[in-house]
Amino acid sequence: AVELSLRPRYLGEYIGQNQVKENLKIYIEAAKMRSEALDHVLLYGPPGLGKTTLANIIANELGVNLRTTSGPAIERPGDLAALLTNLQEGDVLFIDEIHRLHRTVEEVMYPAMEDFALDIMIGKGPSARSVRLDLPPFTLIGATTRAGLLSAPLRDRFGVVSRLEYYTIDELSFIVARNAELLGIEILGDAAEEIALRARGTPRIANRLLKRVRDYAQVRGDGIITPEIAAESLKMLQVDPRGLDNIDHKMLQSMISSFRGGPVGLDTIAATIGEESQTIEDVYEPYLLQIGFLQRTPRGRIVTPAAYHHLGLPLPPQQN
Ligand code: ADE
Repeated sequence: AVELSLRPRYLGEYIGQNQVKENLKIYIEAAKMRSEALDHVLLYGPPGLGKTTLANIIANELGVNLRTTSGPAIERPGDLAALLTNLQEGDVLFIDEIHRLHRTVEEVMYPAMEDFALDIMIGKGPSARSVRLDLPPFTLIGATTRAGLLSAPLRDRFGVVSRLEYYTIDELSFIVARNAELLGIEILGDAAEEIALRARGTPRIANRLLKRVRDYAQVRGDGIITPEIAAESLKMLQVDPRGLDNIDHKMLQSMISSFRGGPVGLDTIAATIGEESQTIEDVYEPYLLQIGFLQRTPRGRIVTPAAYHHLGLPLPPQQN
């Protein structure tokens, strides 16, 4: 409940993602002026950047209902049919992890998105026939970590495709300060920035760190989050000054000690540290690439000099 109440409800309260917000604002206004359903929207980007929040805001700004589900939760075409036939005109259906839709369900989705129609098979064998059922016009909002995970036919049916970016330190500091105020927490400006610096560009992480720091401030201090309190508690959480956690460290260190810093393939890295390749590619690697600690080359991933420096390790002799 706390998590939900922290979420901005209107575009005007949503910090960051300025390009995405500006575009959406226009499309939403245009759809409302024409009394039409907004075109289907695909939101993609690393986890925790606000895809679900944006879907809620879009429905709210449109003044329509939002139904939320996820790709793997829709097991059969009939599940999708049930969802779609229960929508009212103009409603938003939000499907998280849309790249994990079952193939059979995805095929029912095409005519639903394009023509607001469901093609249903009735009967079996020689007497089987297809019946077309009209749907109310609706907006599908799909969310995924990478647009490339979607099949081309599905991706092509979204009229609006928006990529969410990592937030800047200033934007995250603002979000931390805003959410502290909503939670009734006293926090000094430099402490908000201390949290922002370690949140890997991600509001979800910033908010989680804020709550843990609040706990620490209550028990060890007088409840006020000062920069000192923030630094101490963040150290206890094993988040380093750039926001790297144990897994980031393990990954970079094993690339350095076992593969001289690379190039090394994703699957090899994954096997070495015992993580899923997909998790590394979706969750860990994008931030390390973003801050310039990793590079991707055709021959694999390379640890950059900046990462050696951050870890306090000498560069290998051949890398200068
Ligand atoms: N809380 C989480 N993400 C946010 C955002 N982008 N803007 C404002 N508050 C938030």
